[in-house]
Amino acid sequence: MKYEDYADLYKNRTFESMNLYFKSRDIFPGGINHNIRYFKPYPFFTVKSRGKYLFDVDGNRYLDFWNGHWALILGHSPEVVTSKLKKQIGKGTLYGTANIASWKLGNEIHKAIPLAENLRFCSTGSEATMYAIRLARASTGKRVIAKVEGGWHGFNTNLLQSVNYPFEGDEGMGLIEDEGHFVESLQFNDLERSIKVLESIKDDLAAIIVEPVLGGAGCITPQAGYLLGLQEFAKRNESLFILDEIVTGFRFAFDGAMNLFKLDPDLFTLGKIIGGRGLPIGASFVEKKR
Ligand SMILES: Cc1ncc(COP(=O)(O)O)c(C=O)c1O
Repeated sequence: MKYEDYADLYKNRTFESMNLYFKSRDIFPGGINHNIRYFKPYPFFTVKSRGKYLFDVDGNRYLDFWNGHWALILGHSPEVVTSKLKKQIGKGTLYGTANIASWKLGNEIHKAIPLAENLRFCSTGSEATMYAIRLARASTGKRVIAKVEGGWHGFNTNLLQSVNYPFEGDEGMGLIEDEGHFVESLQFNDLERSIKVLESIKDDLAAIIVEPVLGGAGCITPQAGYLLGLQEFAKRNESLFILDEIVTGFRFAFDGAMNLFKLDPDLFTLGKIIGGRGLPIGASFVEKKR
């Protein structure tokens, strides 16, 4: 079947979605709330999800390969999660006080990933990476953060640099040149070039932040020795090595990609999956001794 035939079939079956999309454009820029949710000719509007399927307002069923931004490793609405959620909703949703649920979750994560000795929860992965680099700057007294080209750490303004190819341009409107002043980019999987860049900024290098496997950039795996090389440089230089495990955590291995790749990050971040597989959450972790 040609693309045009698919598009015609889609349009014939998604009349209500089309109506909703045009109404949505009145209140949401582009008709959506996350750029990734748009596709041509217009996105379908989901009303229900179950297992591996999404259901739209027109009664269509879709096999879902996106799985809630990759967070739903058990599929949509698994009983084991929804039953717990229903119970909790009956007891309240936002206490605004210390609470047992977060204490229990923190302990569960610590049991799974022993390196997670000290942590703070927040509401998104973007906040977790923001806090991680702030922590790194505060504890080292240095300012520069090194990240890799194509590395995506959420909408955290500090790290919105060199995310999209060809990496030199602005990553979005409203970002000013100074934002990038204290961020340096490294070429993923080119250790020699990366070390050269790191050498040139080492005196003010607070941290290197990297995803163990580049997710948003297209699932690019690290070449043997690359991550370890960055980690060794950071430690030698008394800078921090931050692993962003917001996508890889609890997915590549129960105890994190850090164990799979035999890494020992000073700080790491989690999100997505730890929120009951899909509720908004983020967390930054650090070992107590550091
Ligand atoms: C590696 C990585 N870090 C951070 C984030 C930001 O997480 P959130 O969308 O919860 O802000 C994402 C989101 O896709 C991510 O892929």
